[in-house]
Amino acid sequence: MTTTQLSGLLPELEVIRADFPILSRTVAGGLPLVYLDSANTSQKPQVVIDTMVDHLERHNANVARAMHTLGAEATEAFEGARDVVARFLNAPSRDEVIFTKNASEALNLVANTLAWAGPLQLGEGDVVVTTEMEHHSNIVPWQLLTERTGATLKWFGITDDGRLDLSNIDELITERTKVVTLTWVSNMLGTINPVAEIARRAHEVGAIVVVDASQAAPQLPVDVVASGADVLVFTGHKVVGPTGIGVLWGRRSVLEQLPPFLGGGEMIETVRMERSTYAPIPHKFEAGTPPIVEAVGLGAALEYLTHIGLDAIHAHEQTVTAYALEGLATIPGLSVLGPLDAADRGGAISFEIAGVHPHDIAQVLDSRGIAVRAGHHCAKPAHARFGVQSSTRMSSYFYTSLAEIDALVAGLEYTRSYFKLS
Ligand SMILES: Cc1ncc(COP(=O)(O)O)c(C=O)c1O
Repeated sequence: MTTTQLSGLLPELEVIRADFPILSRTVAGGLPLVYLDSANTSQKPQVVIDTMVDHLERHNANVARAMHTLGAEATEAFEGARDVVARFLNAPSRDEVIFTKNASEALNLVANTLAWAGPLQLGEGDVVVTTEMEHHSNIVPWQLLTERTGATLKWFGITDDGRLDLSNIDELITERTKVVTLTWVSNMLGTINPVAEIARRAHEVGAIVVVDASQAAPQLPVDVVASGADVLVFTGHKVVGPTGIGVLWGRRSVLEQLPPFLGGGEMIETVRMERSTYAPIPHKFEAGTPPIVEAVGLGAALEYLTHIGLDAIHAHEQTVTAYALEGLATIPGLSVLGPLDAADRGGAISFEIAGVHPHDIAQVLDSRGIAVRAGHHCAKPAHARFGVQSSTRMSSYFYTSLAEIDALVAGLEYTRSYFKLS
């Protein structure tokens, strides 16, 4: 790659890497860790770890209900994290930010409540449109919804080069379509989808648009207003935050029309034995004690990403991805599943090597300290589209160096020689 092409790299990568204690550890008998599994879960900077430890050491109490100093501090920290999420997403209101357990729960929340009651309730004859490149978390909840309501599930296919096939958009998005749901960035193919364009078409027929931003939020500036989404979800552990916390952002008008998802403490206005009334959003959707320290950690994570800058993160990711695609192209028998142009691609690259099982590739790489994922990456339909059961996936992040990509490429050359491929 030329110097100009490399100009997207983050200038102070070593300083950034030093923020992540795990990146300096060794594995496989003393080899430096090469972590290329960030689409699966990202590593955590010290500031996230410290913020969570400090919260537990000094401010731990339940939120909203405790009438003492610690309760007030915990509530302030928890609700402060909601403000951070709202700013991160450019949400019109902090009340539109619901904390969930993860992205899967957020998607289940919307798919379930759309089936149950309210003005947006789906029924027979209605259509939900998804895509063939979704994570299972954005397929199965909609299958359950359509099975329960008698609605029909349809989907956009995938082109040979790993993009959404929009050629039949007029057949899929019609006045019967009530929900259009899609991933912004594919966790398997890496494809970045034209979310705003699809949302515009969906809104023309009055459908609501649900966007899975689990792979987008870590690496692209996400502006919920500009995206055209009515509901957008992401998961904390992929944005350098902890596990156990996810986010559902929803347009106020949509959230107010949905019935509660789970019942319990904090989501009520009043409870009588005959019936209850519910708290306004966001609390209507947050039954029980929420993941407090996880939300606080997520707040610290999003502040950290914002400090580095999502544009800068995206530029770094694109540069590393372009470099990786170039390196992978030198390996005989290797084929990439997904777009070959880094320009409209995220940092996940799934590939196959003819004659070697993906699990064997991952195991040989692991013996050299390189962590990648092998399997179906919770995207079985997308693998089936390309006629394969599984693949190996490398996924970089803004802390990934070009030297780590070189190590991967050398590891793949070694894998080929290990399996005596000609
Ligand atoms: C695109 C996409 N959607 C949803 C999910 C589910 O995230 P979680 O397991 O944290 O709910 C993932 C996780 O890999 C993902 O990549």
